[in-house]
Amino acid sequence: MRTSRGDCRASRLPDRAGALASSAGCRRSRLTVSNPYDDLAPEYDKWITGDPACVPTVKFYLGWLAQAVGRIVEGGVGTGRIAIELARRNQLVTGIDISAPMLSIARDRARLLGPECTLSLCQMDLLRLGLRSVDFFILPFRTIGHFVSHDERLQVFNQIFGSLAPGGRFVFDHYVPDLAWARENHCRPLRMFTEEAGAVRLEIWDTYEFDFARSLLNCAVDVVRNRRSSEASELHEPSRRTVAFTFSWLAPDEVRELAAVTGFDVEAHYGDFNEGPFNAQSEQQIWVLRRPLGRGP
Ligand SMILES: C[S@@+](CC[C@H](N)C(=O)[O-])C[C@H]1O[C@@H](n2cnc3c(N)ncnc32)[C@H](O)[C@@H]1O
Repeated sequence: MRTSRGDCRASRLPDRAGALASSAGCRRSRLTVSNPYDDLAPEYDKWITGDPACVPTVKFYLGWLAQAVGRIVEGGVGTGRIAIELARRNQLVTGIDISAPMLSIARDRARLLGPECTLSLCQMDLLRLGLRSVDFFILPFRTIGHFVSHDERLQVFNQIFGSLAPGGRFVFDHYVPDLAWARENHCRPLRMFTEEAGAVRLEIWDTYEFDFARSLLNCAVDVVRNRRSSEASELHEPSRRTVAFTFSWLAPDEVRELAAVTGFDVEAHYGDFNEGPFNAQSEQQIWVLRRPLGRGP
């Protein structure tokens, strides 16, 4: 097994604290960090199990790429749950992420793969890629939502377009916001994960503060640990860590516009993780964009 920086070029990592700054709202104290995933990394794999799209996302990308031949890059590879399965199938994969702690978990996992599997992992910013000749660029699990302005999303589209070989595909997903659900759950803590391990009870809660006018939400993730003392059955004061970040959703029309401006052709637009067609009732939007042949780098 090899985990290497390969041909990845280190990019200067931006301080995105400004973009992540939270507005005054349902939370009084928030920890806003330059990259929330640095703080979320230890609990990431547990946290996401509370998301209904957690498993379907993996199945979709593994299924869609089953016959793929060529170089695959996963943007925002996180702890590697998709890239590692691709590498296990001997596909040629590079995972990139801005978060060193997330990559560190991915590297530990990748070391458990057999020597015949190759997965390159490198720290890189999606806003400054500088890659070339990629055949498939995937951006799973709504990572596009971390780019909270139209300009940032356009930059990501341009960077990915420039990274692809002519004919290469850019595949990504996001949800279609359910505004009725959002209004009902605005500022309401939602349990994402609970675990009793020995004397410790771990709970992870999400709270979303929606900004409907700007298609944004401030997400606060609370990681709460209650420790039960061994002598008595009383609980110690719980430890609580809050990680906050701003996230965006985007309208399908914006994706079409971004694709057109960047130069992508829309090859497929699915409305669910089973590759059903997109329609007005769809809860997901999954896009396959293709860099046309004949537009060289
Ligand atoms: C929602 S997680 C998805 C992780 C993984 N793809 C999965 O399916 O579990 C988003 C990932 O994108 C990464 N990320 C966020 N902004 C980034 C940026 N500007 N450049 C590179 N990675 C970024 C985060 O560090 C995080 O690991």
